[in-house]
Formats: sequence, C-alpha cells, structure tokens
Amino acid sequence: MKVNGTPYRTIWETSDGAVEIIDQTRLPHEFVTVRLENMRDAEYAIREMQVRGAPLIGVTAAYGVALSMSHHASDAALKATCDMLVKARPTAVNLRWAIERMRALLSPLQADERAVAAWREASIIADEDVAINESIGRHGLKIIKDVYQQKNATVNILTHCNAGWLATVDWGTALAPVYAAFETGIPLHIWVDETRPRNQGASLTAWELAQHGVPHTVIVDNAGGHLMQHGLVEMVIVGCDRVTATGDVCNKIGTYLKALAAFDNGVPFYVAMPTPTLDWTLQDGVAEIPIEERGQDEVGYIAGLCDDGQIRRVRLITQDSSSANYAFDVTPARLVTGLITERGLLAANADAIRLLSDTPHPFTGEGLGERVK
Ligand code: MRU
Repeated sequence: MKVNGTPYRTIWETSDGAVEIIDQTRLPHEFVTVRLENMRDAEYAIREMQVRGAPLIGVTAAYGVALSMSHHASDAALKATCDMLVKARPTAVNLRWAIERMRALLSPLQADERAVAAWREASIIADEDVAINESIGRHGLKIIKDVYQQKNATVNILTHCNAGWLATVDWGTALAPVYAAFETGIPLHIWVDETRPRNQGASLTAWELAQHGVPHTVIVDNAGGHLMQHGLVEMVIVGCDRVTATGDVCNKIGTYLKALAAFDNGVPFYVAMPTPTLDWTLQDGVAEIPIEERGQDEVGYIAGLCDDGQIRRVRLITQDSSSANYAFDVTPARLVTGLITERGLLAANADAIRLLSDTPHPFTGEGLGERVK
C-alpha cells in the first residue's frame, strides 16, 4: 500500500540486521518509523501497540525471535525469547502461532545455524501474510461484486477497528476485499467505526482509506445499528484476532454489538479470517478465549491534534470515576454469515472449518491442521 505515493509494508528488514516498523501510535497525525534492534524492542512494539492487529503482531514476534538469535542463539536464549514474546499480548492467537512455528523450526538446529534460519523463516511468514491477504481480497471481491450487480449503485460496507493493511504486513484482512473491489472500479463507501478507546478506526482505518482514495465516513461506535435500520449498510466486514474450531469470532470490543445489529436487520456479517488466526484448540469462544484488559487511562483520556498544531492528551472523566477496558469481545458463530479466508468463503461452523485441515494449503502444501495445531 502507498503512503503519500510511496509503497510501504508495515514491517521490513534493514540492510544492517534490524527491522523497521511504522509507529502506529503516532498515526494519523504523524508518520514515523521506528527501528527494532533486539527482542526487547519487538516485545515493546507489540505490548505498547506500535504494531497491532493480529497478523502483524505475529510477524513482529517472528522477527523478534530472529533479532534475538542474532545476539544469543543458545537453547536457553531461544526459550527465554519465545516465552517473553508470547506474553506480550494475550488475545490474538497469531502471536502464539508465529512463536511456536519459530520455536519448532529452531529448536532442533545447532545454535550457530539458528540466526540465518530465523531470519529466513520470519521473512517467509511475512511474505505468506501478504499472499494470504491478497487471496482474502480476491475471495471477498466476489461477495462485493454480487452485491454491486444486484444493487447497481454504491456498495456501503461497515467495518470495525482496523483490519486494513496496517493490521497486517500488506493488504489487510477485512479491507483486502475493499481494496480489491476499489481497484476493479466498483463504487464503494465505507462506514468506519471510530473504535473507542484506542480509536483504531478513526486513526488508522480512516487514514489508510484516505491514503488509498477510498470514500469513507467515520462514525461513532454506536451509530451502526441506526444505519442498518435505515438500509444504509449492505454488509459488515470485520477482522478477527482468534477464531475457534467452531467458528466463534473474537475481535475488537464492540464487534459483537455490530453482529447483533446486523442479524436483527438482515445485513450480512462477514469475518475476514487468515487461517493462522484459527485456534484449533478451542471450542467455545466466550468461555475460553482470554480477553485482554488494558489500562484505565485508555478510557479516561483521549489524544488528538489541537488547533495550535500540538498533539495533546486530555482527560475525559474525572478522577472520581474508575473505568474498565476490555479490549476484545466474542461474536458467536451463529451471528456470522461467513468467514472469508485465503482458501475461500467458509461457513462459521465446526464441519466447514474441519475441512480446512483435510486439504493441502495452497501456499504451503501442508494440511492446515498440522501447521497451526
Ligand atoms: O488491539 P488491536 O488494535 O491489536 O486489535 C486488533 C485488531 O486490529 C482488530 O481486532 C482487528 O479487527 C483484527 S486484526 C486484523
């Protein structure tokens, strides 16, 4: 994707053995890149959300292992690195998936072989993410095209949080079909939930859609139901941070309410799901998925650009009130119209999802179950 006309990925290797990322905490008002030199930098970037979004978190963690192996590649260092990185954020399963893939590859190797192998694997994981998202884009495009052919007018899509290219290495998950449809000339308009408290919608989704020239409107998180009641939304497409083997979808807080409103209004509710976001070990999303609880200040304060050109943080609620900050919620499978995966559109149920593990993956050739279990 392009930033001010220049093509970027969200994470890339430097020529001198480091990694660079876009600091997403500075968007939309400042475009700043940050250099990660060691595993602690990678862990900090994930924990403090300089990088965020399930797929990008996984890729950053893989590079964190590679950075670490360049410095210390003993068994103890490998274990300590993996154990530390995996705890950086709890909900997105891609983090654990990427770490376990790195650990499985590196553990049997001699220490002096690990750095080269780790960099190669991190780079493969990054490239696979791009290929997966491109493919999600192609499959999602068919859905948007069908709606356009029926309506023959602008297709309105509502999305929540940021599941665009900033949440991945490139293309995005929920926004990959949007970009694919936009490229083919289908007239689109995107309703962008602001996504309190971190405002990934207002700060990131709106910014990247604007960079790409896609028509969009930012709305407060509570507006979606009203828009659906008035026929102003043809479909919802969201991303996901973890999906159970039964199709329950964990995504940014507020997703569940959008799914309920969509269900009540007969609006299709799609989830763009890269298969590394599947957690085969879980059956019941509400009971089993760990929900990250973040600090109260994210609710109590808000930051923005002031008229004098300075970015400031201001207090929204007084010190007399406490706040709670649940970062994710779970949408039960019954509310999900379909999962748009890199392997096609799937029903959100155990039978359909099980089929994934029985057929070879188009990119890796492996049975998916072996890869992610
Ligand atoms: O807390 P974040 O910003 O890391 O949240 C993750 C997300 O970006 C969303 O939940 C997203 O919709 C799924 S990741 C493509």
